Amino acid sequence: MPQAQPQFLNTLPHFQYFGEDALLICDLKLLKLIPDLQNWAAGFSAKYFVEAGEELKNLHQFPSHFEKILKVSQNLNPRNMVIVAMGGGSVGDFAGFLASVFKRGVRLIHIPTTWLAALDSSHGGKTALNVRHGKNQVGTFYPAEQTLLVKKILISQPASRAQEAAGELIKIALLSEDKWVSRFEKTLSITPEVLWKYLPPAIHEKLKIVAQDPFEKTNIRQTLNLGHTLGHVLETALKIPHGTAVAHGLKFSVHWSFKRRIMQQPAFTRAMNLIEKKTADPATLLSLRPSSQRFRSLLIHDKKKQAQDQFNFIFIRDFGKPLCALVTLDELLTEAHQQGFIKK
Ligand SMILES: NC(=O)c1ccc[n+]([C@@H]2O[C@H](COP(=O)([O-])OP(=O)(O)OC[C@H]3O[C@@H](n4cnc5c(N)ncnc54)[C@H](O)[C@@H]3O)[C@@H](O)[C@H]2O)c1
Repeated sequence: MPQAQPQFLNTLPHFQYFGEDALLICDLKLLKLIPDLQNWAAGFSAKYFVEAGEELKNLHQFPSHFEKILKVSQNLNPRNMVIVAMGGGSVGDFAGFLASVFKRGVRLIHIPTTWLAALDSSHGGKTALNVRHGKNQVGTFYPAEQTLLVKKILISQPASRAQEAAGELIKIALLSEDKWVSRFEKTLSITPEVLWKYLPPAIHEKLKIVAQDPFEKTNIRQTLNLGHTLGHVLETALKIPHGTAVAHGLKFSVHWSFKRRIMQQPAFTRAMNLIEKKTADPATLLSLRPSSQRFRSLLIHDKKKQAQDQFNFIFIRDFGKPLCALVTLDELLTEAHQQGFIKK
């Protein structure tokens, strides 16, 4: 399954770039945030504005969106039609799923507008909707034919968003052996300019991993979940941003890898330096830690569970050398307890 190589642009292309049969699906909030976006969007003959967030991905709301989208796009030629998804990961997941089922599949272009979407969700072709008891339980693999990364849009996000995205960039650095990682290690903090600079190698690394296992049939693509087992629990339990939660998850995985002698001291020191220098440690974490029972139930709901009480956990031997291994729920809980992520 071919994955589109991202294109890096300073500004948005003219709306005519997308052709006459383009349907714009756009985060409504962006109209207020991005100057001139209203004029740009007005150029599209078919457009549909959405409120970003998990509710947009609600499977039960999908038919109602679908009916409205059918109406607004009725004059487009389905054979040439392209859905242009502009927004963060929730808009990308929704519009990607829509493109994969709309008249049995139409073309798709992503324009990610958050750092998380630019670094991660707009590449690799995963689309997703949520059901009541589970996030991302319905979905398809449907890579976009183009992903356009627009500097003017990404840089305009609040600076705090850059720090929140740090976890995902550090994750991909830990999964990489390439030269860019040593340059990245020397930067002092994660700013919007730093994120923009390291988007190309980080995306390249993700696409390299995806190309080896596009449908997640082996453990290779799962290595992109490094830091996410604990990260997802903390994100839900503490209501902290995804990237911040992943940064804690990375520390957890690196520590556990070292304790199990999967990772040696030099790699451990280097990895911890990278994580700690570039992430803020939220003081709230210790006071808000989940109880053992809550931690257990959040883990059990995580879709990465393999059997009744076993999980694929991503350890790491060294930079660029992840290791996927089965661990039991009890082993995970004990380790989380020992590392102070669970309330005593
Ligand atoms: N498909 C994948 O591979 C994949 C990977 C990771 C995450 N995801 C999904 O991505 C979603 C989270 O992504 P997200 O954080 O980008 O979410 P989002 O789309 O929910 O956006 C978060 C918030 O940022 C706002 N926003 C968007 N662009 C902005 C901008 N330029 N400036 C200021 N605010 C802006 C949105 O309106 C929203 O309030 C989750 O649903 C997650 O499941 C998907």
